[in-house]
Amino acid sequence: KILILDYGSQVTQLIARRVREAGVFCEIHPGDVDDGFVKSQENLRGIILSGSHASAYSEDSLRVPSAVFEAGVPVLGICYGMQSMAMQLGGKVEFSEKREFGYAEVRARGHTRLLEGIEDFSTTEGYGMLKVWMSHGDKVAELPPGFKLMASTDSCPIAGMADEERGFYGVQFHPEVTHTSQGQALLSRFVHEICGCAGDWNMPDYVEEAVAAIRAQVGSDEVILGLSGGVDSSVAAALIHKAIGDQLTCVFVDHGLLRLNEAEQVMNTFGDHFGMKIIHIDATEQFMSKLAGVTDPEQKRKIIGKEFVEVFQVEAGKLANARWLAQGTIYPDVIESAGAKTGKAAAIKSHHNVGGLPDTLNLKLLEPLRELFKDEVRKLGVALGLPPAMVYRHPFPGPGLGVRILGEVKHEYAELLRRADAIFIEELRRAEDPVSGKNWYDLTSQAFAVFLPVKSVGVMGDGRTYDYVVALRAVQTSDFMTADWAELPYSLLKKVSSRIINEVRGINRVTYDVSSKPPATIEWE
Ligand code: XMP
Repeated sequence: KILILDYGSQVTQLIARRVREAGVFCEIHPGDVDDGFVKSQENLRGIILSGSHASAYSEDSLRVPSAVFEAGVPVLGICYGMQSMAMQLGGKVEFSEKREFGYAEVRARGHTRLLEGIEDFSTTEGYGMLKVWMSHGDKVAELPPGFKLMASTDSCPIAGMADEERGFYGVQFHPEVTHTSQGQALLSRFVHEICGCAGDWNMPDYVEEAVAAIRAQVGSDEVILGLSGGVDSSVAAALIHKAIGDQLTCVFVDHGLLRLNEAEQVMNTFGDHFGMKIIHIDATEQFMSKLAGVTDPEQKRKIIGKEFVEVFQVEAGKLANARWLAQGTIYPDVIESAGAKTGKAAAIKSHHNVGGLPDTLNLKLLEPLRELFKDEVRKLGVALGLPPAMVYRHPFPGPGLGVRILGEVKHEYAELLRRADAIFIEELRRAEDPVSGKNWYDLTSQAFAVFLPVKSVGVMGDGRTYDYVVALRAVQTSDFMTADWAELPYSLLKKVSSRIINEVRGINRVTYDVSSKPPATIEWE
């Protein structure tokens, strides 16, 4: 296994992700573990020291446990990790007020085992060049004894160093971010060639390890989980159920603002197929009555969030033996909320599915997906036997159709919207793009219908109609922070529009939303 010591960089998880992608098991631990911890590691093949926001130079910054350099395994220091390595092994680090994170081209000097065969292009002088993301600022000014120069730039003469005898390597740039194009290759070489790891670790192995970890964590306690039918809570439920079976009870709160047949699908998959204990609460009436007369989007979100917590709490309170609250928190959520705490990332979502619950219920938190990225969660879901269509489903907001019915939410509107939305999604799945061979559902990141409570005039047969409007929205995005409207084929839009108007009585007009984010948001409210 590879041990990753975390010195507080926001991208430490990315190191773990790259190591996992190389098929090698790894664990992240805080950088201030003691020597005993490092010595007690079984099957240790290598250690990676992460970057940090702190300066390696400052007095109170963390020191790398000296056992790291005495463990007899290769060590790779990244950025701060390299600087700490340099300082602790007898080199010098130069302090700088200014820190920058940006693109750089690094010359790889001579051959090291780590960089063998790795370059983006080579110069006429014969240097291998790497395109990297570099964190400028503090830098290594003098190599520690036994080290040779591995890489450099004009502004950072020691951008990489190596003591090949001991297997110690340091890079000032960040191989874990995708902007460093050879980053995966570099980390793969480190874990395979330098550390000698086989690279045969995979998702099923992860399942076994995660299952063992959950069992060890909860023992014979009972666990409750709020199941929404979304990818994260579904995968968390399947994983925990595999680990502890009937010690897990899922509470599925149906606020009446779900997609067509969604409640049935959730109950079929988890109840009938997996045999999980699920409490299905149909709270439609309760939510609808609370939402009556409310038109402001944020107000609606707050009401739905608050009701959700209340309903969940009542059910959880009935499970007297529950000691744990399980949540499908994934790594990007962890970063997002850490950012929200420090004020660095704007608070974007005002509703989280089970926000606020832990404090009031006195339950301990079980978050088995905390270390995983979305695509890893999906792979895990497939490995656990969840239907791929569920695992690869577009995201759906917690407040559901509540924010897709503009203004006041009514039963009648929700019914119309559900049917229109289902037709849109069905046709997206059916329509194949001849160029990529993929269907348009998979080619879009999120697609849905929005209910507009305005009436417009139409003709149908011999009669005049005066009915509601539905807007179709389909976007492509990699991070949901910015998004482009999808250039769906006209033939597809035509089919969807004609089916909705013919099949959903009450809708006589369909429009397509051609706004990008920003300035528009993905949802209409
Ligand atoms: P916007 O509309 O802000 O959406 O561009 C970005 C992503 O966030 C989802 N979204 C929400 N998810 N509760 C959620 O759980 C919410 O209140 C909420 N609002 C937006 C939206 O579906 C899109 O994926």
